[in-house]
Amino acid sequence: MNIIDIIEKKRDKKTLTKEEINYFIENYTNGKIADYQASALLMAIFLNGMDDEETTNLALAMAKSGEILDLSKINGIIVDKHSTGGVGDKVSLILLPLVASCGVPVAKMSGRGLGFTGGTVDKLESIPGYNTKIDMNTFMQNVEKIGISMISQTLNLAPADKKIYALRDSISCVESIPLIASSIMSKKIASGADKIVLDVTVGSGAFMKTKEKARKLAKQMIEIGKLANRETVCVLTNMDEPLGYAVGNSLEVIEAIEFLNGNIIEDVKEVVLELGANMLKLAGIGEDIEQNKELLMKNIKNGKAFEKFKELVQMQGGDITYLEDVEKFQKAKYIEYVYSEEKGYIRKIDAKEIGKIVCELGAGRIEKEDEIDYSVGLILRKKVSDKVAKGEEIAYIYANDTEKLGIAKQKLLKNIKISEEKVEKPKIVLGKEQ
Ligand code: URA
Repeated sequence: MNIIDIIEKKRDKKTLTKEEINYFIENYTNGKIADYQASALLMAIFLNGMDDEETTNLALAMAKSGEILDLSKINGIIVDKHSTGGVGDKVSLILLPLVASCGVPVAKMSGRGLGFTGGTVDKLESIPGYNTKIDMNTFMQNVEKIGISMISQTLNLAPADKKIYALRDSISCVESIPLIASSIMSKKIASGADKIVLDVTVGSGAFMKTKEKARKLAKQMIEIGKLANRETVCVLTNMDEPLGYAVGNSLEVIEAIEFLNGNIIEDVKEVVLELGANMLKLAGIGEDIEQNKELLMKNIKNGKAFEKFKELVQMQGGDITYLEDVEKFQKAKYIEYVYSEEKGYIRKIDAKEIGKIVCELGAGRIEKEDEIDYSVGLILRKKVSDKVAKGEEIAYIYANDTEKLGIAKQKLLKNIKISEEKVEKPKIVLGKEQ
């Protein structure tokens, strides 16, 4: 067997066998297959697709490329959560301490930003001192001690995904159902959770642009979950406009802290409660989704969720004085308003373009090795359907460079569309697959 034959087969739209997929994953992970050959194969998969069996084989091969975590020592049903990616998506920062505060153990391995989307690890690292790279024993001990740990993909879990994920990002091969399904499910299987809740985002700021494609991705991941004996539930959520108001690492952490302190934002709340209620159900806390939502709201209002977030940050070396006083987060040098040039109702805030603007300000990586600037980003002052007057503020931009600030302002105005007619509030939770 050799990689050239495998590339040729996929290039010619043929089906890869389990052995061929295993050969690729094993030899790419151990460095025997070069990046340029892996790139060619990934592009062929991107263009020609994979059937269900190939995708499952790919996910399982990637899961087995490293260790499979054994979390059986931890009491309780471990329910993991993952999102297919979004803009302004600070859900994990809120949801995971929240469900942990309800007694569900959380052992979470998160990702960094990918393409125009943000990543939870980058956001957590914007809290000074927070260490996402702890070893496996400490990770497990933290879950046992305080019921939650959130780390990056540093453990030797699904190393094939780590390499492939970074490569896909640099060759524009992200938005592919088999590649996303295998990437996510390989990590979830390797990280040892008993059950899985997935946030499958749909719209401009998501990798799946339509509900049909999102549903297909969801079904594919549920199938992989079944074969790996991991019950999986997918919630489809709207990602046409950014989630919440803040986009950018520390700005999103601040929004999450404020949310946990009772400053509830409607669209974030809907996603958090829907995912959380399903996590509680899978964990055996309660069968009734609406009652589970009430329990979650109670733990936000009584401060238990915020306390759990503080415990998590402290346990991982973070400075919790930043959580107690968000003014301590380093501010960008320039904070400027953007004013509306028209009056009417906000019709569209293009999440993908907003993600790109924030990435170009320095909040994300254009090259794999780029350093992140945690302080930059933007805060929207309006959401889709809101009324706006001419000259009214529609956003603040946080920048550390005047040239980038100017470009961001222009692009932002182009990507917020206003109409004269009233606009309906978009639906946030779009469906569920299980
Ligand atoms: N999130 C992942 O973990 N992998 C992808 O491919 C896309 C989003």
